[in-house]
Amino acid sequence: MNLTREEERMLNGELGQGTQSAIELLVAIGDAYDAEKMIPITRAHAASSGQEGDLYFVELLEKGGAKCRVPTSTNPVYDIEFFHGLFEVPSDEAEVARRVMEAYKRVGAILSWSCVPYLTENIPLFGETVAFSESSATPYVNSVIGATTNREAAQSALAAGVVGKTPKYGLHIKENRKGTVLIKVEATLKDSFDYTLLGEFVGKQVGFGIPVLTGITRRPSTEELINFCAMSNTSGAVSMFYIPGFTVEAQTVEEAFQGDDPKDKIVVTDAELERTWKELQTAGGKIDFVMLGCPHYTLKQVAEAAKLLERRKIHSGVSFWICTSATTKTLAKRMGYVDTIENAGGNVVVDTCIDEPCWSAYRDKVGMTDSPKCAYYRRFKDVVVAGLVDCVEAAVKGKYE
Ligand code: F3S
Repeated sequence: MNLTREEERMLNGELGQGTQSAIELLVAIGDAYDAEKMIPITRAHAASSGQEGDLYFVELLEKGGAKCRVPTSTNPVYDIEFFHGLFEVPSDEAEVARRVMEAYKRVGAILSWSCVPYLTENIPLFGETVAFSESSATPYVNSVIGATTNREAAQSALAAGVVGKTPKYGLHIKENRKGTVLIKVEATLKDSFDYTLLGEFVGKQVGFGIPVLTGITRRPSTEELINFCAMSNTSGAVSMFYIPGFTVEAQTVEEAFQGDDPKDKIVVTDAELERTWKELQTAGGKIDFVMLGCPHYTLKQVAEAAKLLERRKIHSGVSFWICTSATTKTLAKRMGYVDTIENAGGNVVVDTCIDEPCWSAYRDKVGMTDSPKCAYYRRFKDVVVAGLVDCVEAAVKGKYE
């Protein structure tokens, strides 16, 4: 790669060991992808987690004196104080989480601890060059907002946040942003869970491709788009997609394919979504807990859950969790939603997610969730996947019928 004088100084360690480690990683990635140079970024999102690999890298940078040069938000970890007395979290794992959170603080990151920072704490604008990791964040930023990011890892995103730059390759180059597969949607998309199933199906079909979806006639909601992003980038590796007319970068199918023909054409009917839904189930009947908020629930979703739980009680044998951001919980508390959920016997928890070791107490339990991504982590024995209404009904009855 051609490096500027300042980048050379970073690489030589003249701006500190932490910055040197960060740029070494970016140069290695750039060389692997034949990037000609680095380009400045305006913000980053590091998919942090309370786990060893993440701890190693963030401590390597911060102990070397690195500080984020651009706003860099953080993904869920977990607040051990909150879980104290609720679950037994092994002390060595709790210590890893504590050190991760401390290290991100010292490196100057935005301590959002949320996987949807693009809604509140760290919002790119159209055309910005950024480095965002996290399943829903990468495709949302590229497709819904129209900023450009590659599918970063936690480490490469943090390194980019520290250096303030990223190698120019992949989705930072216009011709790499062209659609590859035409998806004709004939299925009825009633609600956000249908977008979840659509994302799950499309991700499996296109893998690393860039799907262009047609046949969607109603503007998808924010939550529907988040679900499509998270699931298509979990069952597959969809970093970008188009719904011409509703996503920002191409107004027509031809524009989305940049004049080329699609490499493949796929039709999605109700039957495909039904089959996708059935394939997700590994259990039925009695459930032990419900886990919502993967990705972190928005205020609207917390409000929907609260409305469904008004004047009701969750079954004594079921734990009920909603994961969200601290920002959303603050508003939800202010608006009475948290009290409604807690009065019904549920919990609204911030800064964490199913991917964290704090949930290991559920490893022998049957869970229910509205998120195939949550199910994918298999932190529990078996899982039922269904929409929010079904999750709440099952929580109240103690079983999914
Ligand atoms: Fe977010 Fe964790 Fe799910 S990062 S998408 S809540 S696995």
